[in-house]
Amino acid sequence: MKNTVVTFQEAKDKGEKLSMLTAYDYSTARLIDEAGVNAILVGDSLGMVVLGYEDTLSVTMEDMIHHSAAVARGIKDTLLITDMPFMSYQTSVYDAVVNAGRLMKEGRAQAVKLEGGKEVCPQIKAIVDASIPVCAHLGLTPQSVNAFGGFKVQGKGEAAAQKLLDDARAVEEAGAFAVVLECVPQALATKITESIHIPTIGIGAGAGCDGQVLVYQDMLAMYSNMKPKFVKQFAQVGEQMREAFRTYKEEVAAGTFPGPEHTFKMDETVLDKLY
Ligand code: KIV
Repeated sequence: MKNTVVTFQEAKDKGEKLSMLTAYDYSTARLIDEAGVNAILVGDSLGMVVLGYEDTLSVTMEDMIHHSAAVARGIKDTLLITDMPFMSYQTSVYDAVVNAGRLMKEGRAQAVKLEGGKEVCPQIKAIVDASIPVCAHLGLTPQSVNAFGGFKVQGKGEAAAQKLLDDARAVEEAGAFAVVLECVPQALATKITESIHIPTIGIGAGAGCDGQVLVYQDMLAMYSNMKPKFVKQFAQVGEQMREAFRTYKEEVAAGTFPGPEHTFKMDETVLDKLY
């Protein structure tokens, strides 16, 4: 069954948990789609896990469009949500609508995600008014890493917790169809989930959320630059890849790869005619 923003809301209403993973390319998107995961996020985390930047700030609209379009070609049933990169929506409501439109038209996204609470509600409302579904993102919003002074848990004190709850209500009111809660204490994420009608998707926010999202390189142990506490490694794919690359190198060096089964034959009399 095709996942849409409508089935997302139905899942929350029925108490069914939603699953989301990031992807940035066609092959991975196909595998995630075949596994039945509800949504793929082409996150601007691609700046770190694919492009090797130390944060997400350098990611461009062209990067997001390029990777979103590749993922779109690999999916059938999964809902495709694409991140609006840093400074593609903060600058004005006009920029936000134009850039959200580009992610839909050129990147074939089915929804966009942007970071922030009350301060970006005019952008959320305008994008939604243009018939583009918006997923909000609160808590540790990585595009604000410099303002936060690092990648830190958000909403621990009373004022910060109240602000997060107010922001969640505000993005719902502005028309967001879902909200990602990143690095928020479990009790606060649960209270937010119970206080709003749209689904909450947690990452480092505990099991009380309506769904979960992980960066796929984190959950497959393929990205070793940092390992946040909230990441569960579901498989050691990074180690398996390293081992396969090592074996390949050894077999090439030893001349055992390629073997006869990997080669093409020809009529040997043709060879005899060559001079
Ligand atoms: O960019 C991303 O991958 C994200 C997730 C961590 C939620 O925003």
